Amino acid sequence: MAIRNIREIGDEVLTKKCKEVKEMTPRIKELIEDMLDTMYEANGVGLAAPQVGILKRIVVIDVTGEDPYVLINPRILQSDGEQTGHEGCLSVPGKTGIVTRPNYVKAVAFNENMEEYELEGTELLARAICHELEHLDGHLYVEKVEGELMNLSDLEEEEEEQE
Ligand code: NI
Repeated sequence: MAIRNIREIGDEVLTKKCKEVKEMTPRIKELIEDMLDTMYEANGVGLAAPQVGILKRIVVIDVTGEDPYVLINPRILQSDGEQTGHEGCLSVPGKTGIVTRPNYVKAVAFNENMEEYELEGTELLARAICHELEHLDGHLYVEKVEGELMNLSDLEEEEEEQE
């Protein structure tokens, strides 16, 4: 297990378009393992390869902590509905912002054995799929934030006041 360094906003690698994966190799298998380790270590629900400096179309997502998905060369086939809520990114530490996303997404991707599969998700999973796939084209959620980007610490204070 290896934890990789997470690149942060301002790093050029996060603005690049990633290349398709043509075949599984031991190096890519290791990258995927490391991406999962790195995501769990950082308490994230998703991580895209460019966030660890690799310009390949690979994403890992786990919104429950026990149900990891590996998405290689993913594409969104269908989306429906709308959800508006807080979003964050391991590459934009300490920040959060309001983003509107589809409430339902169906994607097609290859798994770590290069078998094609479809993944459907609603709510947080739909949000994570959209967010992570945008990383593969060099986009960050901060481009879509409605209103101001907020500090997570301010948000936590606000929530405490409400209690
Ligand atoms: Ni992100």
